[in-house]
Amino acid sequence: MRDSGNFKLQQFYLKSSGTVAKTQQVYFWQSVGGTVTILRDVGKDWDMSIRIIGTGSALPAHQVTNEDLAKLVDTSDEWIRERTGIGCRRISTGETVVSLAADACRNALEDGGMEASGVELLLVATCTPERGIPCAACQVQDRLGAQNAVAFDLNAACAGFLFALHTACAYVEAGIYRNALVVGAEVLSKIVDWSDRSTCVLFGDGAGAVLVEHCREGGILGYVQHSDGARGDVLKCDSRAIQNPYISSRMEVPFVQMDGREVFAFAVRKVPASIEEALEKSRIQAAEVDLFVLHQANRRILEGIARRLGVDLERFAMNLDQVGNMSSAAIPVLLDELNREGRLKRGMTLVLAGFGAGLTYGACVMQW
Ligand code: COA
Repeated sequence: MRDSGNFKLQQFYLKSSGTVAKTQQVYFWQSVGGTVTILRDVGKDWDMSIRIIGTGSALPAHQVTNEDLAKLVDTSDEWIRERTGIGCRRISTGETVVSLAADACRNALEDGGMEASGVELLLVATCTPERGIPCAACQVQDRLGAQNAVAFDLNAACAGFLFALHTACAYVEAGIYRNALVVGAEVLSKIVDWSDRSTCVLFGDGAGAVLVEHCREGGILGYVQHSDGARGDVLKCDSRAIQNPYISSRMEVPFVQMDGREVFAFAVRKVPASIEEALEKSRIQAAEVDLFVLHQANRRILEGIARRLGVDLERFAMNLDQVGNMSSAAIPVLLDELNREGRLKRGMTLVLAGFGAGLTYGACVMQW
């Protein structure tokens, strides 16, 4: 119960057949003339949401261990494991964002039991596409034969998959599409400076995809997303410089540049806050969450987030020791792993959270 001037605000859940059907806020307005009750919906419209019905992933064949990297730069397995939790990663020796994304999509479609021609929306989150145009999503559409899908890319760096999932949710909620393939795919190895030991040890290549469809119960219960462009310089990678008959500008280093400590501090502070915000929106307590599936940047970041939330680290799924930080591919690849291992049961409550360059960050709560 919260007082707000003359208004007393009470939140409660209306139950229908034993499940939460609609969340509403009820205002009791104590006026001179008596009590007026005003009902209004808050948070998500529970009448329509999306749920994941299929997952898939694809990783390059070539595995690079910490010992392999120690032959390239002045580092060691001990340093990398202790500071990041990463043991090895997959690096492309020819696989592309499009080839990896298409393979991940085929696996997700097979898992979800849908033909490519049935897909209505195809979103590819990536910050490392092969081409400026056409977008990776249109190339993936072509490879899949998903001719009926609307396809486009979305770049929110490491929060890209999460933002794409939320975008799919918004389209479905609005009644525009009934299903979507949501993909995170990266070949970060081409934008990493392989002589910079502070960044080249962190990243890996790969792709993950989820097939989502509309649902009226469960699925995504609530989500939040944030951007802080004013702090974009702490993690950046330049693209082509402006070169035309009127200007000739110099390009800065076209590789990932990062202030690791700033990024670390940002993640540990902002991610728990956005998770709490998403939980509050979904009327779920952290204690009710079965599994936290977060962006896989660094084990110490995940430990810090778990500590701030007061949640046991055992409830945080992790695979970064095997694959490193795959940016937008991290969450869907991890989801696929969990799904194929049989660790995701219908009705389980999951929290997904992502963060990265932009700066961008967000979280969502879903029932599997
Ligand atoms: N191997 C060995 N030494 C290394 C190294 C490596 N791979 N990388 C950096 N070092 C050295 C530094 O040069 C520095 O040496 P110095 O003390 O002689 O100057 C020392 O290790 C400490 O560097 P520092 O940057 O303070 O280490 P750190 O504890 O902050 O760890 C990161 C560095 C990058 C692991 C950490 O800041 C981090 O994980 N940040 C978040 C990055 C991230 O997740 N980005 C993606 C977000 S989506």
